[in-house]
Order: sequence, then structure tokens, then C-alpha cells
Amino acid sequence: MKKITKAIIPVAGLGTRMLPATKAIPKELLPIIDKPLIQYVVEEAIQGGIKEIILVTRSGKEAIENHFDKNYELEHHLESSGKKKILRSITKLIPNGISISSVRQDSARGLGHAILCAKYILKGEDFAVLLPDEILLSKDEKNDFSKMMNFYNSSAQGQLLVEKVRKEELSNYGIVDLNKKQLNIDSPKKINKLIEKPSPKYAPSNYRVVGRYILPFEVIQILSKTTPDKNGEIQLTDALDELVSKGQKSIDAVLTNSKIFDCGSKKGFLGANIAMAMNDKSLKKYMKDIIC
Ligand code: G1P
Repeated sequence: MKKITKAIIPVAGLGTRMLPATKAIPKELLPIIDKPLIQYVVEEAIQGGIKEIILVTRSGKEAIENHFDKNYELEHHLESSGKKKILRSITKLIPNGISISSVRQDSARGLGHAILCAKYILKGEDFAVLLPDEILLSKDEKNDFSKMMNFYNSSAQGQLLVEKVRKEELSNYGIVDLNKKQLNIDSPKKINKLIEKPSPKYAPSNYRVVGRYILPFEVIQILSKTTPDKNGEIQLTDALDELVSKGQKSIDAVLTNSKIFDCGSKKGFLGANIAMAMNDKSLKKYMKDIIC
């Protein structure tokens, strides 16, 4: 079995929930403390063993690619003024041996369509998808994505991260059907069905899909034929449902052990900044002083 080395990170969204902040700045570059959201997610992917990051982007969001590229003028300035520590923080973003490339999504046609845009780079291999709106603060030393990669390495099966949510939240997410089974940390269970944003009445469980996926390449073939929904979007959830319903491939649900922040929303973005600052040695005391 070939190890997973490629991860798709869709970054073509317009960030409308965070306007006006995202009028001229891609939402993925909004910072949590002093690091942009996208950098946390890229680091998470690399920690899990990913070697090739594929950004699915759009016109107007070139600043994301620039963030991971060299900035000669700035580097020269920091070098000549002796600011070595700050210089290191911008030159070592991506370790040796890791590549970042990008493809374009020409129209907003959903997550499934974004993934299809990277089809030719995948070259038939199983792959990971990480959605950068969701920032995960792990309660364990090993983060959820690394655990999912380990599960894939021992089972060769797709892995989907899930979180238990309240009834009122079910209609905002993809929901998995686990045949009434409950999940425990570190013990994945087979998914029978998936439904995208069901009304609570039709939700098959209260486990929602978090934006971390490890998927078999067969999903790409299904996505190429998936009919768009009523909003013209090709849903990844619909393709995954077809894959598991037909028994073509198994996908397991992995229960998260992280605190999850939806940083595409004001609450989540603020929450992530506060939680990370409370965990940061140099800011902890200051946070306590101003909050308590
Ligand atoms: C997408 C997926 C959904 C998943 C969610 C996680 O929804 O379609 O199944 O639960 O990401 O963030 P979106 O947030 O794009 O509406």
C-alpha cells in the first residue's frame, strides 16, 4: 500500500461571513495571534506526514501563495538589520522536502468541485483534504489528523473526522450514519451513509463531519459524475455517500479529541484567538489579567 503524501486544501471561498475584514485579505490569511490560519493547517498536514500540499485557489487570493514564497526584499532588510529571530519566522515556513502547488477553481461550485480541480495532480493516489476554516486545538500530544493517517496506514481505509454536536447544529454539516453505534476516541467505526446538512428530523446520528478527510482515489471518479445540488454545488458528502452505500470502499469515522473552532465565523475566530493565547506561554498571564 502506498502512503498518503498529497493533501488538498481548498482556499477559493469568498469569506463572506467575515466581511469587511476579508474584502481585500483572503480569510485564510487572518491571523490567530501572529500566524495566519492557513499556516496552522499546512503545519498540521505536514505533522501528519503529508509531503505535497495542493491549494485550490481563485483569482484575487494570490497573497496565500505569496505567504509561502520568498520575500527577498523583506528577508534582505531583516538580515541586514540583524533581526535574526524574525527572519527565521518567515524563512522556515515549509521544511525541506515539502512542496506547495496550486490549481485554480474558476467558479464557486462547491467542495466536491474544488477537489475535482486537483484531480490531475493526484495521479490516481489516495489523498487527504483539510478545510482551513476549521482550526483544531488538540487535547492530545498527537493531533487528530496524525491519528487518522496512522489508522489509514494500518487499515488502508478512508478516514473522516467527526464531532458530536447538538441537535440544532446538525443542519449545518455533513452527518454520518453509524448504524446507531456510539464512537470512542481511538476506535474508528465504519460509516454506512452520509447526508449533507439534513434537518434534525432526518439526521441519522449527531456526529457531524469535521473538515479533515483521508479519501480513496475512487471518490474522484464518483465526483466527476455527481449531479450538482439545487444550488449548483457538487457536494463531497454526496460522492462519499455513493461510495460507501454501494460498498465500493469503506470509510471509517474517527472521533475528534480536539476543541474545534470555525474560523470562518466571528465567534470561532475570536474563540480560537483567545484559546490559543491562553495556551501561549508568553501571553497567558496577560490574558488572565485582561479577562479575569
Ligand atoms: C463542508 C462539508 C460538510 C462538512 C463541513 C465541515 O460544508 O460540505 O459536510 O461538515 O464542510 O466544515 P461547508 O462548511 O462548506 O458548508
